[in-house]
Amino acid sequence: MVSKAAPGAAGLDGIVAAETRLSEVDGERGRLVLAGHDVERLAGAARFEDVCGLLWDGALPDAAERERLRASVASGRLLAFEELGRIGDALTAADATAALRAAMGHLGLGEAEPAPASLAGAAAVFAAAWSRAREGKPPVAPDPALGQAADLLRMIRGNAPSDEAAQALDTYLVTVSDHGMNASTFAARIVASTGSDRVSAIVAAIGALKGPLHGGAPGPVLDMLDAIGAPERAVEWLDAELRAGRRIMGMGHRIYRVRDPRAAVLEAAALRLERSGVRTGRLELARAVEGAAASALAARHPERSLCANVEFYTAVLLDAVGIPRTLFTPTFAVGRIVGWCAHVAEQRATGRLIRPASVYIGPAPS
Ligand code: COA
Repeated sequence: MVSKAAPGAAGLDGIVAAETRLSEVDGERGRLVLAGHDVERLAGAARFEDVCGLLWDGALPDAAERERLRASVASGRLLAFEELGRIGDALTAADATAALRAAMGHLGLGEAEPAPASLAGAAAVFAAAWSRAREGKPPVAPDPALGQAADLLRMIRGNAPSDEAAQALDTYLVTVSDHGMNASTFAARIVASTGSDRVSAIVAAIGALKGPLHGGAPGPVLDMLDAIGAPERAVEWLDAELRAGRRIMGMGHRIYRVRDPRAAVLEAAALRLERSGVRTGRLELARAVEGAAASALAARHPERSLCANVEFYTAVLLDAVGIPRTLFTPTFAVGRIVGWCAHVAEQRATGRLIRPASVYIGPAPS
């Protein structure tokens, strides 16, 4: 019988819960490998549909296979658009991620389990439709000729995005497609391990992603940049936050002891966007705030390296391509659903129920 929880047990720190071929996170060296590819290389070159092939089928697709994947995800978008009238009041939710969770829960009510491509397409349609509804506008029908990134932007904004904006969003979606045993992926794997269905696993994952300690941080990062307003105000503002006992959003990570490699990928993508003529508006400010936050956190936590995580430049990049901040977390889900579906398949293949133990600290029976 176990009588005491090990240090860090509450967060399962350092516990290996699965073997995976999908991604490797090296927190000491700041390296992320996605199925054999360094994220820095993959994110600049691959599109959303490429990473679907990589994580679902084990290899980057050739031209014909990429076209098949593009068509499958596009057909998922078309089917989901037809479902919009049958998802109850999901799109009236005040929170976009709650809306996405509720809308996705309406899928798979029939006999057949929706395929990963259908779920990926549906997530884009539901996220965009929620955003349009908030603005009092009707949803925009998907364009099956487009890739997922370009069509997501089109369905949100109502007009065709520039190639540069679509490419920047592709870079984002690829960058966040998978990341080891993060909380939402673990949630998906736990549900899959019970023998439950794919939609249930994805709904659980969306619920986990919603929290500010996981995928809910980029909106607050943008709020922080707005509140600071100018680089010279960063030190004072951050100091007041830390003195009030609040966390700085977009900083720190459970695994990384150095800067999150995805922060560099997204910072570079934002810079490329700026050089192509799209004003990101906040890149310079974000760099100044990151520097000030890293110094302030180093002074308070000399024992712990707390650097920028993926969410910091997510905020800058998604804002620059025209995604409203309320939609940042569902956009994260559109990227991460690729990894979630791949993990569900991997977990199913093990056939093993995930069932950890706990230590009872309640009263003894009298
Ligand atoms: N701002 C201020 N303090 C922070 C911090 C932050 N962003 N991140 C960690 N800390 C503090 C913790 O409060 C803790 O202090 P304490 O020992 O005095 O309580 C110390 O640093 C060590 O924390 P750590 O164990 O490294 O954090 P964690 O592994 O539990 O948490 C995060 C990791 C990501 C949840 C945490 O860094 C965080 O809350 N970041 C902000 C939210 C965010 O950006 N989320 C997106 C993650 S990708």
